[in-house]
Amino acid sequence: MKPVKHLAVTGIAITGALALAGCGGSDPSGSSRAELSVGASYMPQPVSADMAAGFLTITNRGGTKDELTSVTSESAGEITMHETNGGAMEQVSAFEVPAHGQLVFKSGGNHLMFEKLKRRPAQGDTITLRLKFAESGPLTVEMPVKSATYNPSTGH
Ligand code: CU
Repeated sequence: MKPVKHLAVTGIAITGALALAGCGGSDPSGSSRAELSVGASYMPQPVSADMAAGFLTITNRGGTKDELTSVTSESAGEITMHETNGGAMEQVSAFEVPAHGQLVFKSGGNHLMFEKLKRRPAQGDTITLRLKFAESGPLTVEMPVKSATYNPSTGH
């Protein structure tokens, strides 16, 4: 049973690869890779240059999960990723971006923590971030600095 099943799976994989090569990259059976995009990014204007928080949403339209493994910026000496569990925050080394799903960073939940900022970000500034993933290529994000009390659901 097992060898037969394995052969069948291999056959499907080869057909898929040929179809992919034959039509310039569009896969009629649906995407098998992560397709990531970033939206809703913002940083509330921090009180000092010592520390700031940042939020964004990563959407995966692909059929395979990926992992956010690091975030860097010219504007900050260090950016760490945190999750919030029962009011306490914990640093994590990677966040999963689920297949056909989203990884959401929002106030009170997952967040990016900026430390050693070169200068204090002010409302109207833009912070350029580079996101790295386990599988997908890196993404660049222009994160706007909003007011200290900015609420994305009200827009001010
Ligand atoms: Cu934190």
